[in-house]
Amino acid sequence: MTEKHSILRSVGAYLPARILTNDELAKTVDTSDEWIVQRTGIRQRHIAAEGENTSDLAAAAGRKAMENAGVGIEDIDLIIVATTTPDMTFPATAAVVQQKLGMHHGAAFDIQAVCSGFVYAVATADSFLKNGLARRVLVIGAEATSRILDWTDRTTCVLFGDGAGAAVMELGKDAGPGEARGVLASSLRSDGHFWNKLYTDGGPSSTQSVGHVRMEGKEVFKHAVGMITDVVHNVFEATGYGVDDLDWFVPHQANKRIIDGAGVKLGIPPEKVVITVDRHANTSAASVPLALYTAVADGRIKRGDLVMIEAMGGGFTWGASLIRW
Ligand code: UT7
Repeated sequence: MTEKHSILRSVGAYLPARILTNDELAKTVDTSDEWIVQRTGIRQRHIAAEGENTSDLAAAAGRKAMENAGVGIEDIDLIIVATTTPDMTFPATAAVVQQKLGMHHGAAFDIQAVCSGFVYAVATADSFLKNGLARRVLVIGAEATSRILDWTDRTTCVLFGDGAGAAVMELGKDAGPGEARGVLASSLRSDGHFWNKLYTDGGPSSTQSVGHVRMEGKEVFKHAVGMITDVVHNVFEATGYGVDDLDWFVPHQANKRIIDGAGVKLGIPPEKVVITVDRHANTSAASVPLALYTAVADGRIKRGDLVMIEAMGGGFTWGASLIRW
């Protein structure tokens, strides 16, 4: 008997036109290209234009994913947007995206898991599809993090960028036993005891404002590799696959040193790791789908490949999914 898994039928992405280099940043804050590259691997980031909101980035990435899947908005019955930088406190950015894509039917909601948002959204869409609550889901990770940065704080403002990535997910029939395609397993975690290591110093119910990103970078760094490797191991255990079976490791792109550390601990050779942090910086919930899009578009990720996605961020939240492409 063949089983049904949720496949990622296509991916799409959108990056704002404006590129901000490290050298440009060094003119306004006490930093240098050398420090940023050495400590993070970041060389540049994209910044949303004035008036360009998270919903605009999300809708653009969503349109591209639908185009690549050969489906129209009438074929989608659920939109999930993972974001930490919604257009407004409410309604959900997903509702605004629904309007921008011209969709009157179905449902739309946001997921807030900061940098882990896309992994949480993929696991949520997988669950909705398997339970028959949706037929085809547009899953989007989109951020305009530049809007909540304190541009005088060099410990945070050099790290983030704006962008969006998306995937069309639907149930796909496996080719046969042992030939499963789609999301094979996911592992989601959080531990709210760490909320004050990475947060905004404002919000609707506390300060009636948005606030700015605050982070104890060293504390986040200290926990990141262990948390990432834990969920990756969980997913391997659940599926019976191991690191040698993996074709591509598509990690959250926060810091090249964290990615390298996780790769070494897991025993994944660097040539199997997709890196975009140099060009995109940390785009939070958009980073994993942007990296997926990059590796699919340049021909690295191909149908049938075994792909591990993972992320870790504010909350703390962390998670991983193993996907047969
Ligand atoms: O998506 C998940 C969210 N975030 C993360 O994963 C980020 C996790 N953390 C990190 O990536 C790293 O901790 C950072 C990149 C944020 C910082 O790297 P670090 O190696 O932990 O540096 P540090 O915080 O220990 O700072 C070292 C020095 C300090 O100076 P002193 O005290 O040694 O004199 C900082 O003041 O570097 C200084 N510094 C900078 N210098 C130039 C901090 N930021 C900058 C900067 N430019 N932008």
